[in-house]
Formats: sequence, C-alpha cells, structure tokens
Amino acid sequence: MDKLVIEGGVRLEGEVAISGAKNAALPILCASLLTRDPLTVENVPHLRDVTTMLNLLGQMGVAISVDEKLGVELKSAEIRQAVAPYELVKTMRASVLTLGPLLARCGEARVSLPGGCAIGLRPVDQHIKGLQAMGATISIEQGDMIARAGRLKGARICTDLVTVTGTENLMMAATLADGVTTIENAAREPEVVDLANCLIAMGARIDGAGTDVIRIEGVERLHGARHRVMPDRIETGTFLAAAAATRGDVRLEHTRPDILESVLDKLRECGAHIETGADWIHLKMNGHLNAANARTAPYPAFPTDMQAQFMALNTVAAGTSLITETIFENRFMHVQELVRLGADIEFEGNTAVVKGVPHLEGAIVMATDLRASAGLVLGGLIAQGRTTIERVYHLDRGYERIEEKLSRLGAKIDRVR
Ligand code: UD1
Repeated sequence: MDKLVIEGGVRLEGEVAISGAKNAALPILCASLLTRDPLTVENVPHLRDVTTMLNLLGQMGVAISVDEKLGVELKSAEIRQAVAPYELVKTMRASVLTLGPLLARCGEARVSLPGGCAIGLRPVDQHIKGLQAMGATISIEQGDMIARAGRLKGARICTDLVTVTGTENLMMAATLADGVTTIENAAREPEVVDLANCLIAMGARIDGAGTDVIRIEGVERLHGARHRVMPDRIETGTFLAAAAATRGDVRLEHTRPDILESVLDKLRECGAHIETGADWIHLKMNGHLNAANARTAPYPAFPTDMQAQFMALNTVAAGTSLITETIFENRFMHVQELVRLGADIEFEGNTAVVKGVPHLEGAIVMATDLRASAGLVLGGLIAQGRTTIERVYHLDRGYERIEEKLSRLGAKIDRVR
C-alpha cells in the first residue's frame, strides 16, 4: 500500500495550477445518462473517484472516449443496465448520483444503498423522499434501492436538511419530468451551479441554482453539449492552508476566489496576506500565524471538506481556536493523528479545542478518509523531521498528483510503494 513520506519544515513557494473540481465532475459525468447524444466534459480531474464513476457508467452501457482536446466524451445511446452495484457504491458514495438520471431516463433503477462510511452515517432518505414526491415508487431489496416510475412528475420538494448530492440528484431527475419541480432548502454549493450550467447547455430549463430555491421546468428530451468543469475549491483551499501553515508564498492558477470566500476570510484572520484576480489567488505569510475559530456549515459558510486542513494549520498558530463540525458526526478522525505529531487538541462535543504549540514533530500517522488525509499532509509539511502517512489511497480519491504539485512548491514529499 502506498505511503507518503514528508520531510517537513520547508516553506512552500511558487506557482501551481488547480485541477477541475471532483465534486462538480462526478454529478456532471452522471448527467450524460440523461441524453442519447454525446456529452463532452473538459477539465475532468484524474482521480480515483472519477475512474470509479467512469467504470460505473461504462458498466451501464455508456461509451466513453477522450477527444483531441482532452475532453471526456460520454455517449449513452442505450443504457444496458440501470444498476449501480454495491461493490462500486461502497467505494464511492457519489455513485448514488446515478439514481435520479437513470430513473428519469429509463423509468427504473437499482442502486445499492451506500451504508455507513468513515465520517458518519450519511443516509440518502432525502434523495428517496424527493423522487417519491415526483411519483417514483422505491423499495429496498437486499440492500438495494429499487426505483420505478413512468415519466416523473414535477413536484414541490422541501428537503429536511441541506444536501448537496440530494439536490443534484433531484435536479437531474426533474429536468426530464412532466411539469415544474421546485426544490426548496436546496444546497447552494458552487458545484450545484456548475451542474445546473451543464444541464442548461444540454437544453434543461433551470432557474435559481446557487440559491435555496431551484425551479426546474421539465422538457421531453435533453441534447448533447460541451462543458468545462469548474476549479476545485477544496484543492485550492488545501494548498492555501498549506502555504499559510509553512509561512509560504504561493500563487494558485486556474482557480476562482469567489467560490471560497469563507476560507479566504479565515486565512486572512490567521494573518495571511491574500491578493486575487479572476482566476488566480496569491497568498503570502509575512508575520505571525494567529489562531482562528471555524464552524462548518453548508455553503457559503466554512466547508466541512476544509475542516481537517484548517485544524492542522491551527495546531501551530498563536492562541487557541475552536473548530466546530456541524455537518458530519464523525469527522474528527484526523485529531488523534495530529496529536501523534505533537498537536494539543481536546474535544468538547462536536468542537475541537486546538491550543497552538510552537512546533509539530514528524511521526507515522494513518489516513482515514479523504479530507482527514489532507489534514495529515499539512501536519507533515509543518512538522520538523519525517512524517510517514499510511493508507494514502484515500488522498488519491480527491487530489490530483498532490505530491507532484507540492514538490513543485518546494516540499520534500515522496510516494513510497
Ligand atoms: C457532498 C460532498 C462532500 C461534502 C458534503 C458536505 C460530493 C460528491 N460530496 O457530500 O465532499 O463533504 O457534500 O458539503 O459532492 N443527509 C441526510 N439525508 C440525506 C442526505 C444527506 O441525512 O438524504 C445528511 C448527511 O448525513 C450529512 C448532511 O446531510 O450529515 C449533509 O450531507 P450531503 O450534503 O448530502 O453530503 P454529500 O452530498 O454526500
């Protein structure tokens, strides 16, 4: 199993290009199920989750090729089997994003229930409730959701909580429904907007994406389109936090400052000097690194996917910070590993109390989930001496060539097989 070995304590300096967003690419690839015509998706990041999704779509009968401009072309002329099996769903929860499109296009779908995962229970009841409101019957058989419907019907759906993939699933299903669907309490994440833009390019009629009420007027059919995936705001935030934590000077290209304002605000609070342009961000740490509190919540608040990295940064900041997790019940698995590096962290319910220490020291640590792993990479970059991160396959699910990009910024980081 691959490991990352980091010799820490090096200041990050230089330029790096940000990849396409994993959490936008995954639903957009699923949108190809909604039309017989080719959908070409550009700026698709090379990640394990993307490969898993392409395998899943391929099994369903989607023809996949790469065009001369490195766009991934997906053609769902015929869907052979509207099935997402447990073997794939258990490795990637986002497989559930095939449920809405399959049901809308084929009138049936069999998608395995995701079950628990490292960061919490993560049910899909809101996806089910919304599709039922649109006329689907859904039963659970042998751990699979079996969904059936004639043409879906437009409906008013108000989700009990804000769910990103739930909003995306329902929005995709509604594009081909008969009549108007409104999704209230919708997720406002930029990835929902990116998916909506792709669907609109395919002929869907969608208003309000990016607000908490999305209105979709169903159409008879969608057509092919070409869409470029937005930049990854979590990868962007991770590199910025790494730069701040190492007192660095880093410029990120091919990104967008407007999609991570809450993170930029927090980094400024920590003492970072940040300049931005339409598609770049430059962070420079001059003076002290100050502790700053953070509370995760749905967009536009501070993202749960940046919580571990921000905590790592705070382990060596001046002062004490309170980091509160409100989205997932078990998303503090990186804490014990950061403590192994010498961090001073205690819990009070869903809040971690992080007392800044002068420095961390390298150790062997274990990655437990995708963003926790990113937090440990930051820990390793900060720590004096050698840190070995085991089980880095979690990291490969969501970060494209992370060790190569960090090396370009001067980090001493190697992958050991
Ligand atoms: C997405 C992101 C993930 C991010 C998360 C929160 C993708 C592929 N993944 O995950 O990186 O961490 O948003 O920003 O985009 N919930 C229910 N019932 C449901 C659906 C969700 O109770 O039917 C709960 C979840 O357990 C969780 C909360 O709602 O506590 C938010 O989850 P959700 O927004 O659905 O996360 P994902 O879409 O799975």
